Amino acid sequence: MRRAAIFLDRDGTLIEEKGYLRSSEEVEFLPGIFKALKKIKNRYLFFIVTHQPGIGRGELKRDEVEKVNSFIQTRLAQEGIIIKKIYMCPHRREDNCECIKPKPYFLYQAAQEFNLDLLSSYVIGDHPVDVELARRAGASGLYLLTGHGAKHLAELNHYFPIFHDLNQAIDYILQTEEALDKASTILRQGGVVAFPTETVYGLGADVFNSLAVARVFEIKARPHFDPLIVHIACMDDLLRLAQKIPDKALNLAKKFWPGPLTLVLLKKEIVPDIVTSGLPSVAIRMPRHNLALRLILKTERPIVGPSANPFGYLSPTTAHHVRDQLGSKIDFILDGGPCEVGLESTIISFLEDPPRLLRPGGIPLEDIESTIGPINSTPLVKLKPEAPGLLPRHYAPRTRAYLDWSEADFWRWKEEGKKIGLLSFRGEKTNLPFDHLEILSPEGDLRQAAAALFASLHRLDKAKLDLILIEKIPEIGLGRAIMDRLRRATFLSSDNPFPSFSESP
Ligand code: TXA
Ligand code: MG
Repeated sequence: MRRAAIFLDRDGTLIEEKGYLRSSEEVEFLPGIFKALKKIKNRYLFFIVTHQPGIGRGELKRDEVEKVNSFIQTRLAQEGIIIKKIYMCPHRREDNCECIKPKPYFLYQAAQEFNLDLLSSYVIGDHPVDVELARRAGASGLYLLTGHGAKHLAELNHYFPIFHDLNQAIDYILQTEEALDKASTILRQGGVVAFPTETVYGLGADVFNSLAVARVFEIKARPHFDPLIVHIACMDDLLRLAQKIPDKALNLAKKFWPGPLTLVLLKKEIVPDIVTSGLPSVAIRMPRHNLALRLILKTERPIVGPSANPFGYLSPTTAHHVRDQLGSKIDFILDGGPCEVGLESTIISFLEDPPRLLRPGGIPLEDIESTIGPINSTPLVKLKPEAPGLLPRHYAPRTRAYLDWSEADFWRWKEEGKKIGLLSFRGEKTNLPFDHLEILSPEGDLRQAAAALFASLHRLDKAKLDLILIEKIPEIGLGRAIMDRLRRATFLSSDNPFPSFSESP
């Protein structure tokens, strides 16, 4: 098991910031730090990362610093707080040393030596460089206003949670871990959780739980189904969900993941139809937000995530937006602060070559083209504006389907020797002798019906029927999206019997 760690800055975080310290007599621990660290000492390995540019400037001797360090380490040990190792950078910032650039070297070194999980680790400090180190290593940076924290506050280039002191930061860690546990438990039990990503907040559900996914559509109250983006946290999940992945797609994933890029690829069977709205393709992305990645890993499955706003509203970039718009409808909101990008991910489809831009977003097209060459950026809607129902992603069965029909029609078709299937909501018309029956929800539950819809249509389409008759569904809640889908299905199959199963956006 990989362990999580806390990397503590020394001056200004653990002890008073007094400039160059040459002897242990000058050490003054900040109030409350022993008590604070004791709260989490069994959960984390502790390290100190300290910057001592006085050595590089020739104003401080290395052994003076080491004496101070070992005094601090011993004093903490007396309190039962074990510092595994102290990493010290003796260089001046202008030296551009390798301690922090290009990678936060100490963090990676500690991760290797102590088998650490950096994603679940924290760096706590009172200087922007401290928290920036965390960000670059995929860990969480917590910024303190003790020491020089207040003075350097304006230099923070990204969002980091800010605390008055170490104690407050540690309480935040405990709360965050608790929230993460709760969110992943809810997801595993089929609930819906809003979660932060670097782009916008997503409305998360277990990708393999069709009912949970149906609830996402219900909460969003979209008047139609839209294929959802599947969020993953490791490359193995990409291979588990998609097939025939072109090299160009893999190259983009390697370069921009985790990050605001979504790849549309041919799906594997394992991805439920409700996730892709019945399409043979699936949209996948690995978000860059620390909590999003941890949530997916903890839940041990990918999670779907449309933006966490009701249909037609602005995309939410803070937990507060989500609470305002959807608060009462979802099971939990995992607060990860404001979103860094604030703009949805760029979506590229690899179902054709050259690949096609489906949605501009967080990663500029130029960056993508400079990695894999030209991208077709003609918007899909402009290709056939006269026939939105023919847009490839509006899936429809190949078999002729009818929404408007009567029992008299049924018997007439039957006499003509037609093989007829029924897509029924609760099973009302099942007294008629159909050749194939699909009942969406015997209990009349719209969520259950939505979850079953695409798979039922697929089965009907594969049943070698001449006709599919469809029973109408009450147009309330999810019923609207279901009926929208069914209208498209019948429109396409009656006016254009084109095989849209194998099509690609
Ligand atoms: O940044 C983002 O991508 C955010 C965060 C939460 O990750 N998510 C997001 O999801 O914007 P959503 O559901 O609002 O937009 C997903 C869009 C769909 O509207 C659809 O256009 C496209 O992704 N999409 C999904 N699956 C697709 C597929 N198989 N083929 C074509 N387009 C697809
Ligand atoms: Mg400091």
